[in-house]
Formats: sequence, C-alpha cells, structure tokens
Amino acid sequence: MALLELSGVTRTVLLPDDRRLEILRGVDLAVGTGEHVSVVGRSGTGKSTLLNILGLLDAPTAGQYLLEGVPIGQLSSRTRTKRRGRDFGFVFQQFNLLPGRTALENVAAPLLYASGRQFWRRTSLAAAMLDRVGLGDRLETMPEKLSGGEQQRVAIARALVRGPRVILADEPTGALDVETGGAIMDLLDEVAAETGAALVTITHDLSVAARAQRCYRLTDGVLVPIALDAPGRVTEWVGDVPVHVVHGEGPDGTAVAGDPVPGARALDLPPVLGPSVPAATPDERRDREGAR
Ligand SMILES: Nc1ncnc2c1ncn2[C@@H]1O[C@H](COP(=O)(O)OP(=O)(O)O)[C@@H](O)[C@H]1O
Ligand SMILES: [Mg+2]
Repeated sequence: MALLELSGVTRTVLLPDDRRLEILRGVDLAVGTGEHVSVVGRSGTGKSTLLNILGLLDAPTAGQYLLEGVPIGQLSSRTRTKRRGRDFGFVFQQFNLLPGRTALENVAAPLLYASGRQFWRRTSLAAAMLDRVGLGDRLETMPEKLSGGEQQRVAIARALVRGPRVILADEPTGALDVETGGAIMDLLDEVAAETGAALVTITHDLSVAARAQRCYRLTDGVLVPIALDAPGRVTEWVGDVPVHVVHGEGPDGTAVAGDPVPGARALDLPPVLGPSVPAATPDERRDREGAR
C-alpha cells in the first residue's frame, strides 16, 4: 500500500466572475515510504495546489486521496489537522521563519503541538535537529542574521523535528544560488533517507528534479511522467515511444530545445513541451540519436 495515493484528483475553484478554473484535472500519483518524487512545471500549472492537497492544507474537489489507505474525506477535520502536524513537514521557497525568534525557538515551535516526550523535550530535540543540519553553533541566532542557505537549513530542521513521514518541499532551492541549493538538496535527501520519510519536491530546476527516483511534469492540470537522464535533457513518452527534448538557455537567455546545451539548467520549463508542439518523428529521433 502506498503511503500517499491520489486517484483522479481534481481541484476546481470558482472565480469572482463565476468562471470555474480547473487547476488539477485528474491527477494520479502514488508515493511510497522512503521514495523521492519530483514535479516540474511552468509557474501557474498547479504545483503548489497539488502539494497543498498532499499536505492536507487543501482538499480535492473530486477524486480520491488515500493516506495510508484511508480516504482523507473520512477523517474529521480535527484528525486531519493532527495528522498534518505529525506526519507532514513543509519546506518553502521563502523559508517562512518566525522573525524575532531564535533558530532554536523556530525549530522547537512545531513541538508545542506535540504531546508527551516530544513536547517536554522540545528544546533538546530542536537543538539536536539544528546540530544535524550543521547549525549546532547558531542556536541563539535570529534568522535575519543568517544567510539564505542557513535560513533554509533552519526551515528544514523545523520541518523535520517531529519526524514527519512525508516531507513536502515547494521550490526549496528557489531562493538560493546553485551551490547552496545543491547542498540543501543533499541535506534533504540525506535526512529523508535516514528517517525513511517520503520526499516530494516541486522545482523549476531540472537538476534538482533529477535527484528524485521518479519525475513528473504538471501541464494543463495533469501529471505526466518524465525522465531526466542528462543535464537539461527531458524524455517524455508519446504513447509508449520515448521522445527526447532538450531544455536549456541559449546565449540570449531564450529557451533552447534540440541538442544538449552544455551545463544547461532550465529555470522554467519553456512552452516547447506544450501539447501544440508535434512530437519528433521516428526519423528525427534517429537523426538526433545518431548525432550524439
Ligand atoms: N484559491 C484560488 N482561487 C483562485 N485561483 C487560484 C486559487 N489557488 C490557485 N489559483 C490559481 O491556480 C493556478 C495554479 O496555482 P498554483 O498551484 O499556485 O501554481 P504553481 O505553484 O504551479 O505556480 C494559478 O493560476 C493560480 O492563480
Ligand atoms: Mg507554486
């Protein structure tokens, strides 16, 4: 049984002018314990909405979400709130730390909602977690005195301090430079592996996405599996035919699709992947493969 399982999940919102906006239109996704799954997609495609549904911050309009086999619709709102705090750890692009509170206070904050040993030992648990993310000597430092990478480490410590079974990361490296972002992803992967937590990462950065065991692209409210097997190279399937599409930035900053761009890092998925672009013919694909 998957830890999290979405089937046919839709999310529709009613706009002020009475139009209906279908943000998600039939999403199927299963995530198991210890798995790392990533989702890429252009901005506004519903990535955060998907993550919020997974983390019980939002609910599907239709379809089913099974959390350890139990439909979340069957949980009382009190149980849902409890499970959100206990089972999910959120990491955001904007670290969302409490200003005017020390790193230690920030990390201990989620434990105020815990019970028993976790509640009573919150300060030492928070200190141990900060030590684990390499900030054992900054316990009393205010977040605003820390670098972006360090603030994200505090946010990760806060997300993990209750030992969540699922880590949900929404653009966790979006505010960081490439190197710091890489170190942050190393840390997330490492701690998730240690604790056996499932990790769902949403990102614009294909090199971040490629760290996951499974990658998906969210387009038009539907999740499609993709493979990221070389820097900037995306493989999609048209029916059961694999199609390679290369993403990168050209010298003038425009998106490039075609041959691999050395060290390409797509900051956003360009529209070349949209459904209006015809897939490469078998001949074109053979030519491309031959050119390598
Ligand atoms: N509660 C809401 N009411 C109206 N529109 C919304 C609401 N939530 C999200 N949207 C819209 O749905 C689309 C997807 O949003 P979001 O999930 O934040 O996308 P992403 O994270 O991929 O950028 C956006 O166009 C956003 O403006
Ligand atoms: Mg978003």
